[in-house]
Amino acid sequence: MSKEYNTVITNVLVIGAGGAGLRAAIEISESGLSVLVIGKRDKSDSHTSLAAGGINAALGNIDPQDSWQQHFADTYLEGYCIGQPEIIEIMSKESPDLVREIDNWGANFDRANNGSIDQRYFGAHTYRRTCYTADCTGKTILNTLLKKASDLNIPIKDTKYVTELLVENNSIFGAFSFDINSGERTLYLADAVILATGGHTRIWKKSSSRKDENTGDGIFLALKAGCEVVDMEMVQFHPTGMLFPNEIAGTLVTEAVRGEGGKLFNNLGERFMSKYDPERLELSTRDRVAFANYSEIINGRGTKNGGVFLDITHIKKEEIIKKLPSIYKQFIEYQMLDISKEMMEVAPTAHYSMGGVLVSPAEHSTNINGLFACGEVAGGLHGANRLGGNSLAEILVFGKKVGQAAAHFSKNIKSHNRSINAIKLANNNIDKLIKEGEEIGRKLEFEIQDLMWNYCGVVRDREKLTQGLSKLKSINERFRKIDVRVSKNNYSDLVVAHNIKCAIYSAEASLKSALIREESIGSHQRSDFPSENIKKKVNYICFLSKDSAMSIREEICLPLGKELDNIVNSTKKIKSFVGKLIE
Ligand code: FUM
Repeated sequence: MSKEYNTVITNVLVIGAGGAGLRAAIEISESGLSVLVIGKRDKSDSHTSLAAGGINAALGNIDPQDSWQQHFADTYLEGYCIGQPEIIEIMSKESPDLVREIDNWGANFDRANNGSIDQRYFGAHTYRRTCYTADCTGKTILNTLLKKASDLNIPIKDTKYVTELLVENNSIFGAFSFDINSGERTLYLADAVILATGGHTRIWKKSSSRKDENTGDGIFLALKAGCEVVDMEMVQFHPTGMLFPNEIAGTLVTEAVRGEGGKLFNNLGERFMSKYDPERLELSTRDRVAFANYSEIINGRGTKNGGVFLDITHIKKEEIIKKLPSIYKQFIEYQMLDISKEMMEVAPTAHYSMGGVLVSPAEHSTNINGLFACGEVAGGLHGANRLGGNSLAEILVFGKKVGQAAAHFSKNIKSHNRSINAIKLANNNIDKLIKEGEEIGRKLEFEIQDLMWNYCGVVRDREKLTQGLSKLKSINERFRKIDVRVSKNNYSDLVVAHNIKCAIYSAEASLKSALIREESIGSHQRSDFPSENIKKKVNYICFLSKDSAMSIREEICLPLGKELDNIVNSTKKIKSFVGKLIE
């Protein structure tokens, strides 16, 4: 017998209380509609708070030659030309206004001597384009959005785990959740729903995400609702994650360290980036630096803890504490290491899902009427490699756009299509998971993380990916026998069981997409196909077919229009080594 549930009605439901969801909610509230934001983490500590180093906008404050066109070209080219040009164009054009806007709302970015917003170098940007507040830019942006949302009285419920989106006749009408502390179930009825749930990189063993965040929830919800997901093989490994202690392995060491002059060395004392990208060295793209670190480590030139050295000791301590205060404290706290005196040890860590839900460029609508997606859960912007600082630009630009589109949809909705059967099914599906069994959830979760790290890591091949898929299949079979016991005030087994469900769907999409892409580009490096296929630029798109099997289709990338093509061609001459990482 199913449990009772509460019912909540709102014009627009936003799932995910990070930067993208909050920016969308602000737009909806300002349009006069009711909006509710729900998430599963403490709203003051969503994943946005970890985006340390900065936000990109071609303001031209430090390098006046910069332009949105150059930002477009850098993003498109460094994504190996498989990103969606229209999405990139919108982000490049609109991020300056959104950065000024949030600065005025109170973000108060660090200033240059003349009082304008300062801009630092981030990897592979032609100009200094990354605006920042020390090394806690994401936290500043999040706090500013939370303050704005609170001024607008936007309700945010941050202990809600969404288990299902409710769809009838290809139109969304709400979602279903349980409370992670009390187990209380809620049915949300809404005209439009926005997915802003983040990525799936916590399903890798070493990850810059924390426990229970970025577990692929949005990918699972979207696929089950009938959406398609694109570029799921494109998972960014950040070159510099912490190595120890074990509990925090993978924690981000911001790119701002390299932006402020940090150098990478192997155990022979060689500044090895000169071999991999002699021009840009440590400020090369993340895919190249991650690959370089990985290669040094597996070729025996790593540190005794299995990393490479990151050195900032040549910078004055006062400067380090001013520009990189969080990183300075992070190493003292976890390793008792003073980074102004000793080198850090770092290694690649799964950091960002560049693929995600397939959306239309301007509105970020999906193929389900009334369902939108923005932020890391959406695909299309980054292609095969994301430039650092573009994710914070993405959440503001497309958070706003999605908010406008969802508000417009809600205002124009003619009738509500709701299905009592879909609601009953969502409620029953939670019941079905709660049962005694022989498999321990956390164990299965760790096995998936090991699997993804070992079989779908920085460098992949057919054999590993195929083995990964068959191991995932057997984990999925064992998942049916999972032990889920709930008691008053303890629903952690149910949370873990749902995390695993989401992980299984996201992992399968990533493994299958990685297997079908027989080339090496950006973050997708295949040792058995070490070159880029320059004749064919494609995206791979996963969806659930009628029998619920994960299926995949190929889509040829759209060519650029004439104006953008000219810009990209002039940039190409500078970046002549695009696609030559392994050759
Ligand atoms: O390295 C960093 O600070 C990360 C920034 C980003 O992912 O954009």
